[in-house]
Amino acid sequence: MLKTINCKINGRDMELQVDIRESLLDMLRDRLHLTGTKQGCGVGECGACAVLIDGQTLDSCIYMAVWADGKEIVTIEGITNDDGSLSDIQHNFVDKGAIQCGFCTPGFVVSATALLEEKPNPTKAEIRRGLSGNLCRCTGYTKILDAVESTAEQRGNKK
Ligand code: FES
Ligand code: FES
Repeated sequence: MLKTINCKINGRDMELQVDIRESLLDMLRDRLHLTGTKQGCGVGECGACAVLIDGQTLDSCIYMAVWADGKEIVTIEGITNDDGSLSDIQHNFVDKGAIQCGFCTPGFVVSATALLEEKPNPTKAEIRRGLSGNLCRCTGYTKILDAVESTAEQRGNKK
């Protein structure tokens, strides 16, 4: 059964026909070709599919597409600067070597974006807690934490 939803995705108002059984992840990847959002576990454990929904980080694999009606969604494709260049968080992931295979990276960047929005100068413990819903098989996490901490420091220096 199809249902019409209206939502904003990466700043664009959209009207979409979605299957009531369809996940937001499938809608983003299969209908809109926003393939930066990854499917890992598919059961809400790994954070590879994380997106922002009304500013909150949520796993799109366990969020039904119909629930997105009236919501504002931001995916990794919407996290770049307005001119399309990488955000400061993305730059720091590159600079700190926080990316290996890269599969987890969009989810981490999404979670880090929300974290620094909520807590501009987080402690190490708060960064760990903020990223605790994201799993990485490659990096050992230290460089990811460094990337987020550096971003917070750089933003603080600019004030
Ligand atoms: S794919 Fe959604 S949490 Fe793992
Ligand atoms: S960089 Fe490979 S899973 Fe994180």
